[in-house]
Amino acid sequence: MSEEKKVVATAIKGGPLKVVGEIEVKLLDGTTEMKPVRSSFCRCGLSANQPYCDGAHKGSDFEAE
Ligand code: FES
Repeated sequence: MSEEKKVVATAIKGGPLKVVGEIEVKLLDGTTEMKPVRSSFCRCGLSANQPYCDGAHKGSDFEAE
């Protein structure tokens, strides 16, 4: 059993939900490797690349905490 890895999701005021952490990937040959994950998910609904943030929130009136 491997050690539990931590992934943190942070809501950015007036912007996306940022997700940062590290995941364990199990490969077909039975080995495992660690890969960083870093992504921003749109909370404003304006991104043309849903579910990811494309920066469209900037200059909008989206103000969620
Ligand atoms: S939060 Fe950035 S485009 Fe929606």
